[in-house]
Amino acid sequence: MLLAKFDGDVVQAIQALKESGPEPNPELLGSADGLLADLGNCRSYCEECRPPLPFPFARATRQVKDVLTILFPEHAGAVNTTTQENELAVSNKAPERFLAMEKVWLGSSGAPRLFNGLWQVSSPSWGSGSAQSQEAALLHAVEHGLTATDMADHYGDAELIYGDFRSKLAPEIRSTTYAATKWCIFSPVPEPITTTFVLNAVRERCRRLRGRVDLLQFHWYDYEDKAYLNVLAELVRITKSHPELVSAIGLCNFDSEHVEESCKYLIAETGSVGIVSNQIQFSLVDARPLRKMTRYFDMILSWGTWKEFQALLESLSTTAHKHGVSLTNVATRWVLQQPAVGAVIVGTRLGISDHVAENLKVFEFELDDSDMYNINRIALGSSRQKVTTLFDKLGDCGNEYRKMH
Ligand SMILES: NC(=O)c1ccc[n+]([C@@H]2O[C@H](COP(=O)([O-])OP(=O)(O)OC[C@H]3O[C@@H](n4cnc5c(N)ncnc54)[C@H](OP(=O)(O)O)[C@@H]3O)[C@@H](O)[C@H]2O)c1
Repeated sequence: MLLAKFDGDVVQAIQALKESGPEPNPELLGSADGLLADLGNCRSYCEECRPPLPFPFARATRQVKDVLTILFPEHAGAVNTTTQENELAVSNKAPERFLAMEKVWLGSSGAPRLFNGLWQVSSPSWGSGSAQSQEAALLHAVEHGLTATDMADHYGDAELIYGDFRSKLAPEIRSTTYAATKWCIFSPVPEPITTTFVLNAVRERCRRLRGRVDLLQFHWYDYEDKAYLNVLAELVRITKSHPELVSAIGLCNFDSEHVEESCKYLIAETGSVGIVSNQIQFSLVDARPLRKMTRYFDMILSWGTWKEFQALLESLSTTAHKHGVSLTNVATRWVLQQPAVGAVIVGTRLGISDHVAENLKVFEFELDDSDMYNINRIALGSSRQKVTTLFDKLGDCGNEYRKMH
């Protein structure tokens, strides 16, 4: 566990290095190369032990290779980024479980309505799974039909973990998986926007995922800077010109006004809407999407009082008891039953905790009108006043993320 923690700490430190965009000077190259060599020595030691020991720093090694590839592309040939891998053995029940899964259509692909969310791997404060345990957790999810996964460029090594995992799947299983990631722009970009600039960003996601992106979700820092419309148009064109790189484009944390602006612009520029989704926060204590389109403790206090939250939990618990499911299932099912919702993303601490079997129960029951009435009365307020209040406090969906940067 201590070694897995160290592994996760190295991943996070290297992620911080990547995001700080350092000058790629010889000193940095020397340090990164030195760290890689030390990790390689440790791997050799583990392999030479009898019996061999599992190598505990596979995630750190992969992350160091990744930063070397990003900062010193001319040096990339010397860094062996892919290793010879055995195909993963997958339960023969996996294809039928995938077929039985409730799906949402995102462009031309159907994905399960429950995604594995990988934000949780972005920090060791959630616990650090080893590369082996993370791979086993992803395999377990895929074997049970949870084949869709949500990641982002800045979720630590999430794309690298998933890319390695997916590349070890037999083609018939791989074709059931759905890789959703994000390109998040948090500051101004060089203008004018060129096809090369956007294509390079798409290629970077594909490099880390070792293959195609099924859904690329785009986050933009400031609606005042209209360059985002050109980026979106380029992205949509790339789905047509390079379908081997990216299949569909989605938005991330866009508010209703700018979803509309994007759609209108894309229709005018490309002849179709071109975007298939908008990923936003939507839960029993953040139902702003019901108002227009439309963290946790703070979110509860923005929504209501602690006492009201306890009343909500009690109501959920009663409903859960009635259906013989868990309280979490009821909360997830409530979101799934909202007409505008395609899929729900459930955060997944790979290799640390496992809720696959329990979360799959959301597809085994439905909330009826009286369940919805009882929950809505508390979650939204008797005349939906809680949604209005939250909207007035926080603004439309995604506003909280733009205020951060
Ligand atoms: N677009 C954005 O800006 C944005 C923002 C936030 C999140 N996201 C995406 O959405 C995903 C989920 O959101 P989130 O990070 O807020 O996490 P979340 O889904 O609200 O919470 C994840 C945690 O819920 C617990 N859990 C899951 N299933 C459970 C069950 N059946 N019973 C009890 N507990 C259960 C697990 O806790 P334990 O591990 O402790 O058991 C898990 O770690 C993220 O991973 C990310 O992909 C996107």
